Amino acid sequence: MVSENPFAEVLEDVRSVPPSVLVIFGASGDLTRRKLIPALYRLFHEGKLPSSFYVIGNSRTPFTDEAYRQRQFEDLQQFLKDTPLEQDEWQRFAKRLFYIAGDMKDLGLYQQISEKIDELSGDTPHEVVFYLSTQPSFYPLAVDMLRESGLNKGNASRRVVVEKPIGHDMQSAQDLERHLAAAFDESDTYRIDHYLGKETVQNILAFRFANGIFEPLWNRRYIDHIQITAAESIGVEGRGAYYQEAGALRDMVQNHLLQVMATVMMEPYTRFAAGPVRDERAKLLRSIRIYKPDEVPEHSVPGQYGPARVGGEDLPGFREEEGVDPKAGTDTYAAVKLFVDNWRWSGVPVYIRTGKRLPKRVTDVAIQFRAAPKNMFASRSGEAEVTPNLMILRIQPDEGISLRFQSKRPGSGMRLRPVGMDFNYGSSFGTRTPEAYETLLLDALAGDPTLYIRQDMVEASWQVVMPILEVWRNTRVDFPNYEAGTWGPAASDGLLARGGHAWRRP
Ligand code: BG6
Repeated sequence: MVSENPFAEVLEDVRSVPPSVLVIFGASGDLTRRKLIPALYRLFHEGKLPSSFYVIGNSRTPFTDEAYRQRQFEDLQQFLKDTPLEQDEWQRFAKRLFYIAGDMKDLGLYQQISEKIDELSGDTPHEVVFYLSTQPSFYPLAVDMLRESGLNKGNASRRVVVEKPIGHDMQSAQDLERHLAAAFDESDTYRIDHYLGKETVQNILAFRFANGIFEPLWNRRYIDHIQITAAESIGVEGRGAYYQEAGALRDMVQNHLLQVMATVMMEPYTRFAAGPVRDERAKLLRSIRIYKPDEVPEHSVPGQYGPARVGGEDLPGFREEEGVDPKAGTDTYAAVKLFVDNWRWSGVPVYIRTGKRLPKRVTDVAIQFRAAPKNMFASRSGEAEVTPNLMILRIQPDEGISLRFQSKRPGSGMRLRPVGMDFNYGSSFGTRTPEAYETLLLDALAGDPTLYIRQDMVEASWQVVMPILEVWRNTRVDFPNYEAGTWGPAASDGLLARGGHAWRRP
């Protein structure tokens, strides 16, 4: 009998990847060594890559194939987690890695890549995925050259994967789009946001739409407000020059956190497939209220960390970090209060905060439900004992979901205490959860863009963020305004207090 379960595809675990070549531009960069090659190695180890699969790396640094392989081996020793790196297996993997040094401005480079693709493909048409992992300013050039050299077309699918940031602002995002659209169809353009590849973010969809009991509560009648936190304890880790131009709002909110917000708040899709899922995400992003300049100060708080002594260690302030201008006005912390102006969410504030050098690394979504309509358990002193229900979707590092509810304390009298009900990935499934890049690379190779961003989503997100960026750019804030190792500027408490709320301490 044919299954009528509309979520049947969610349960489908096996991705079938046709014979493919992955071309990585920026192959000696940090992303390639820390994320891409380890993810590919794991996919290889788990038998998820086809027998005919090759990687061609490019950057300007000269390497022979052998030298490039050796370097990847050394990096894997450092960055491969939870997977054994055994000589035999490594040798089989290494044979699939090739390297072509060359300047992306040089048409000859693309000619060489084309010849290598033909040589590796032999008589079998291979799909080709071009992965842009270079500095973002090179994306338009790379895409133009792929078009001019004719590499954007072949006898099997040709796709392009673009790393974030997708533009520095609305204008540059639209400019990049013109280059992309001239070379690739939208359906072959894969804009990555690695948060969507995280298991815990994907699970939000399963949690909401594969269970009958939560969705009826998932609206303004039952939910008081939502808090999305993405805290990092690290500083800018050698990326000062990039980060100084980006800042927290661009680096985390415009992309990752608005996508998480869309996942938590979007309407149900009709089918788990790229079109319907992305339509709903896009619709939600388009429903976020766009602030006028004079509304921005009331709804947002920028921050920048200053030096501090934490746990016996002297931490530098942002302005003392390597590559950073000592007068930089960059936000290393951003808090915003947003509203979704649709029927389901009207009037429910969504608070988002993110920052570097906060007390710990934690990303989660807290759904604060409304209090019970009447407190029937007030103590004699009249003191309220009932705290409202709180659901926490723990994205990382302690992946899981918990629900806080009231319980009677043992003993005489009716005294209450909040208790928790907990789902924990590790203990429930007992297997390692794949890294976002494994999922996303496999999807790109298999031609499934469901977890990738469409241009309309990119633009809807810039639309929300641009007025805030503009006002911040034109306002002098007395930076630094929080000490490294603390939960951000004091003003961010005021942002919530104005709505009668307070930040959770995760
Ligand atoms: C990246 C940002 O996109 O995401 C970084 O550029 C940030 O600044 C990182 O540290 C966070 O990703 P994750 O997966 O560690 O939460």
